[in-house]
Amino acid sequence: MNLSARLSALAGASALVLGAFAGAVPANAAPASPAAPAAVTPPDISVTNVKQHLADLQSIANANGGNRAHGRTGYKASIDFVKAKLDAAGYTTALQQFSYNGSTGYNLIADWPGGDPNQVVMSGSHLDSVTSGPGINDNGSGSAAILENALAVSRAQLQPTKHLRFAWWGAEELGLVGSKYYVNNTPSTERAKIKAYLNFDMIGSPNPGYFVYDDDPTIEQTFKTYYAGIGIPTEIETEGDGRSDHAPFKNVGVPVGGLFSGADYTKTSAQAQKWGGTAGQAFDRCYHSSCDTSANINDTALDRNSDAIAYAIWNLSSGSTTPPPTGTVFENTADVSIPDAGAAVTSSVTVSGVSGNAPSNLAVGVDIVHTWIGDLVVDLIAPDGSVYNLHNRTGSSTDNINQTYTVNASSEVANGVWKLRVQDKASADTGYINSFKLTFP
Ligand code: TRP
Ligand code: ZN
Ligand code: CA
Repeated sequence: MNLSARLSALAGASALVLGAFAGAVPANAAPASPAAPAAVTPPDISVTNVKQHLADLQSIANANGGNRAHGRTGYKASIDFVKAKLDAAGYTTALQQFSYNGSTGYNLIADWPGGDPNQVVMSGSHLDSVTSGPGINDNGSGSAAILENALAVSRAQLQPTKHLRFAWWGAEELGLVGSKYYVNNTPSTERAKIKAYLNFDMIGSPNPGYFVYDDDPTIEQTFKTYYAGIGIPTEIETEGDGRSDHAPFKNVGVPVGGLFSGADYTKTSAQAQKWGGTAGQAFDRCYHSSCDTSANINDTALDRNSDAIAYAIWNLSSGSTTPPPTGTVFENTADVSIPDAGAAVTSSVTVSGVSGNAPSNLAVGVDIVHTWIGDLVVDLIAPDGSVYNLHNRTGSSTDNINQTYTVNASSEVANGVWKLRVQDKASADTGYINSFKLTFP
């Protein structure tokens, strides 16, 4: 069961408790305020699908001399396999070539169209194996999990606030070659847009641990929250910092995080007690050897980590974890009085010099002085007349609205006259629009 299933199980339980008291609610009670818009729930990633990708990678290795290593035919076949699935799902894909040890290497970069291009949430896994085996845990596991997550984004037709990017790296096993190449060949202005790089390298180890990278606190906390929600203890990843593709990102200041189920370190008895499995044995006894096959996977660890990835991608790409935008501001500070129980009034700003459409995270600053905001209906009106409701008679006797609303205005042309429309719908309390402000990131 994934986290959302647990949460809805909890919600069901509390609904039963409330139900027992339903008869005590007075018939004339105020109507409940309208439910907040449902949060976008991360999906339960199908471990069956993830395992099918692993079976396909195993077949690719079998057909190509038993491995998927840099410079070998099994690597290019692996990249082609992943790329075809992403292309069919609507991703914009790019193969990035580099040369190492006399062979051509490849990174695959896949962008999900949409989201704020200045805030990128990127997930990556190395797709190459060592030459000694098919590399199914290291790192078919991370590769297959982010592939299935990318396909789940497409199935959900997710429209996240931030832009989503996925990467499959070449030649990690030869010294993080592909990821270093990507970082070195991405201009620093573009790198600065990557607000999170999530790395997944070995997440289905047969004697698994549940390790979270101790880097960016927000990313780390996101994974810990997921695991706390399913009741599984985690530990900080200590099996060699900088041993995977997050290191080049971290070195240039990109916030990084990730998950790991263990390589050749030995599981302690304390770890076996909390996670099960075998104490005194490596997390992955087949690390970098020929037995790292489809049989070298713990399905439960693969399932949990795949769901944790979805939880992180969905949460980190929605809303804003960064401070409010500090962009171009258009403001009208003229006071507009709002007639008591009367006609709607407006305050206008003229936006100019912004090319294309408004952003998906248009910041709408509303400052209304009023003694009973439960009287008020407040809308943002786009230049073409489209209406975005910001406030609809909630808050009852609360004074004043002084708030920044985030509006997905990406279907509106930015330039033109935008209006804040306010109507007071009930008599007695009165007030005025103090200021109206739009911030374009
Ligand atoms: N591919 C990595 C390697 O061979 C596996 C690994 C070892 C790892 N320790 C790690 C990955 C710590 C992430 C974090 O070195
Ligand atoms: Zn690896
Ligand atoms: Ca009034």
